[in-house]
Amino acid sequence: MKINISPKSHIRGSITVPGDKSISHRAVMLSSIADGITYIDGFLMGADCLSTIACFKELGVSIDVSGDRVCVQGVGMHGLKPPTHPLDVGNSGTTIRLLSGILAAQHFSTTLTGDASILSRPMMRVVEPLRQMGAEINSPDGGIHAPLIIHGKPLHGINYAMPVASAQVKSAILLAGLYADSPTTITEPYPSRDHTELMLKAMDVRILADELDFESPRSTTIWPAQALHCAHINVPGDISSAAFIITAAMLCPESHITIQDVGINPTRTGILDAYKDMGADITISNRRLWNMEEVADISVATSRLHGITISGGIIPRLIDEIPILAVAASLAEGTTVIKDAQELRVKESDRIAAISHMLRNFGAEVDTTDDSIIIKGKSRLKGCHTNPKGDHRIAMAAAIAALLADGNTSIEGAECVEVSFPGFFELLNSLGY
Ligand code: S3P
Repeated sequence: MKINISPKSHIRGSITVPGDKSISHRAVMLSSIADGITYIDGFLMGADCLSTIACFKELGVSIDVSGDRVCVQGVGMHGLKPPTHPLDVGNSGTTIRLLSGILAAQHFSTTLTGDASILSRPMMRVVEPLRQMGAEINSPDGGIHAPLIIHGKPLHGINYAMPVASAQVKSAILLAGLYADSPTTITEPYPSRDHTELMLKAMDVRILADELDFESPRSTTIWPAQALHCAHINVPGDISSAAFIITAAMLCPESHITIQDVGINPTRTGILDAYKDMGADITISNRRLWNMEEVADISVATSRLHGITISGGIIPRLIDEIPILAVAASLAEGTTVIKDAQELRVKESDRIAAISHMLRNFGAEVDTTDDSIIIKGKSRLKGCHTNPKGDHRIAMAAAIAALLADGNTSIEGAECVEVSFPGFFELLNSLGY
């Protein structure tokens, strides 16, 4: 699907964004292995989370969807059934990696596969620690890439120092740790998102993490569990989706927008910190807790931005927002340097390459290295034709750049936004003119 976008002169409104993708995945996974029925409200009906639902249905869990409410009839920790054919995770890295942790401990074998992007993403980062726990995981290339063939085994606890800060890897190990015969401790070089930990805690699992210090390693210990208990999960709006609208409002003249009920877990709010450092007019109000997750309303007004340098512990806290941060940087005064971002090379696409390709189409000045992006801000972008090659966040970043550019823009294959933000283009159309 090709979408044509023309510039907007301002953006105003009070909106909500779809549910958090990371929390939606975890809600289905954990309530599937919990005891009894769980109602999940605000679930993200995006393609990735629907893949998670489809996989758990194949594993024998009864899951009903009505509107944005999902009802899961938990089968307990040992009630999953062997699927009759390989499970397809689609485009979802979170599904394949977290599910590997659960399947490693089951009494049956499963094959996990996905689309072309998934088949090219690194899997050894989960295979290696799960093998250390006793799991048997193979693939045609020895576990480097999917499809993964997982033979469930009795697992034991490990002490594992993760080479990269990754919530998907950490969560896979924690989920396997639920089933192990002794506690498991994981240390990350910097804290990554901790939604799995918070949800497990809310389900009465014994789990303990170091105090949050963004610039230090963080260790988390999980003890083997007998059962998970849950009844209701309210999923906050996804800050990663909100970031696109926040950026549009910051950069469009005479704009003001409020986004209600957004998750502001501190392991996810690097984008707000970075934007405030760039000079953004952002206000957080109405803070509260939903199932241990912090939620708030975010208001943003047109802002004059300047370039910044970011590196180290903030990177995992805004890793998914770098495509849209790069758009903001391309219109900020001065230079923005994003360092230590080598993980972007192994996302849904090589995002260092994809960001620079997309922004150069809009006439921005971008340089890259193996692990960094350097953007010299300009006062104007120019409309263009661009192809995000199936990467949802690159497509949405391009759409926001298009709102701010001179002239019209066309985006090829724009339907990929459905992966994380169903209704994205309709929402953009409804905001200002
Ligand atoms: C996610 C973790 C991050 C993030 C991804 C979702 C999660 O990936 O980029 O979009 O839900 O755990 P990594 O764990 O690979 O950093």
